This record gives sequence, structure tokens and C-alpha cells, in this order.
Amino acid sequence: MGLYATYVFPALLDWAMRQKPIRRQREKIVPRARGQVLEIGVGSGLNLPHYDRTRVAKLYALDPALGLQQLARQRAAATELPIEFLPVSGEAIPLPEDSIDSIVVTYTLCTIPDVAAALAEMRRVLRPSGTLLFSEHGRAPDADVARWQDRLNPLWRRLAGGCNLNRRIPELLEAAGFTLPELSTLYLPGPRLLTFNYWGAAVRS
Ligand SMILES: C[S@@+](CC[C@H](N)C(=O)[O-])C[C@H]1O[C@@H](n2cnc3c(N)ncnc32)[C@H](O)[C@@H]1O
Repeated sequence: MGLYATYVFPALLDWAMRQKPIRRQREKIVPRARGQVLEIGVGSGLNLPHYDRTRVAKLYALDPALGLQQLARQRAAATELPIEFLPVSGEAIPLPEDSIDSIVVTYTLCTIPDVAAALAEMRRVLRPSGTLLFSEHGRAPDADVARWQDRLNPLWRRLAGGCNLNRRIPELLEAAGFTLPELSTLYLPGPRLLTFNYWGAAVRS
């Protein structure tokens, strides 16, 4: 891997993901996780301070990016969460079926290469009574914004570590066998190409 992928991109990503509007989204989603928890794409660990320690029995922190995991391990040390890091991809989750109470996924469904396979894995490991808590950016509802998302996506994906601007988040969840009892949407402050957010809770259909 080159210098950009090893050092520059993880630092840039960590900075971008620390911004206040995104932190507010984390505050809405992450404290709701309970029991056996699986975070998909833990990245640099920016969600870790938002977990409610009294509700989390165990947190599996999955992410294939080792450069980001070093930052996440530092943040993990500042919490009392019982964490196990899983340095693997979401397309092959090394956990038994029906073993997880809450899945947390923030700003990661945009990036996972085979997102349908990863969502099928999330559905497999989630208990029937479990909840998938999500906050993601994706395809904007305005035709002019969506058109530019489609045009710029190939370039953006190369610059931004595989992130896609234009994924249809609710449709992806539903196609994987989830229903969405809670779904909110909003443009966060910032460039509209990047900031249309979907967040809420999904359950197995
Ligand atoms: C934009 S970052 C978001 C990180 C973190 N979830 C957050 O909210 O700050 C996207 C994350 O997806 C991770 N990722 C990429 N491919 C993945 C895969 N196949 N399975 C799971 N995570 C993946 C990246 O390593 C990165 O940590």
C-alpha cells in the first residue's frame, strides 16, 4: 500500500468523520445498542465513546482496514467497553447466526464493495428480535443532485477509499430482508452531494 492509503487517507477520514453534524448523528444511533453488539466498519473508532456501557455486554468491532484500527484501539482504551476487534470484511462475518442483539453501521454501507453480501451476513448474525441501527449518506432525492452524484461517483470512489456517493440505502436494506420501522432523512450541513443522510432502525422481515 502507498503512503496515501496507509497514512494520509486514514488521517483525512478521521478528521472528516469527526465533524459536528456527523457526531450528532452518532449520538442519535449508537447509545441505543444493547447486549451482544456488532459494529460493521468501526473505522477509527469514533462511535466508541457513544456506546452506553451499561447496556453493552460485548462489542465486536469489525473492520478490514488495519490503519484505521490503530486509531480505534486508542479510542477503545479510553472506554470500559468489552471490545473484540474483528479485522475482516463485512462480507464474511465470523460469528454464528442469530447471535447478535444490535448491529451498528454508520457511514460504511457506502463503502463496502459487495454491500448486498455484507447485508445478507448482517441479517444472518442478527437475532430475530435484534435491531440494525444505521446512519448513512447516500443517494439524494433531488434529481439534479442525484445526477451529479452519478457523474462524480467513479472519481469520488477512487479518491475516497471506495466510498460511493449514490447508494440507495433503504432499498439495499429492504432487498437484504430488512424492514425499516424507523427511517429519517435529511441533508446535513455541507455539500449536498455528500450529505443526504438516512438513519434509523431496521429489523428482520
Ligand atoms: C467512511 S468510513 C466510516 C467509519 C466509521 N463507521 C465511522 O462512522 O466513522 C468507512 C469504513 O468502511 C470500512 N470498510 C471498507 N470495506 C469494508 C468491508 N468490506 N467490510 C466492512 N467495513 C469496510 C472502511 O475500512 C472504513 O472504516
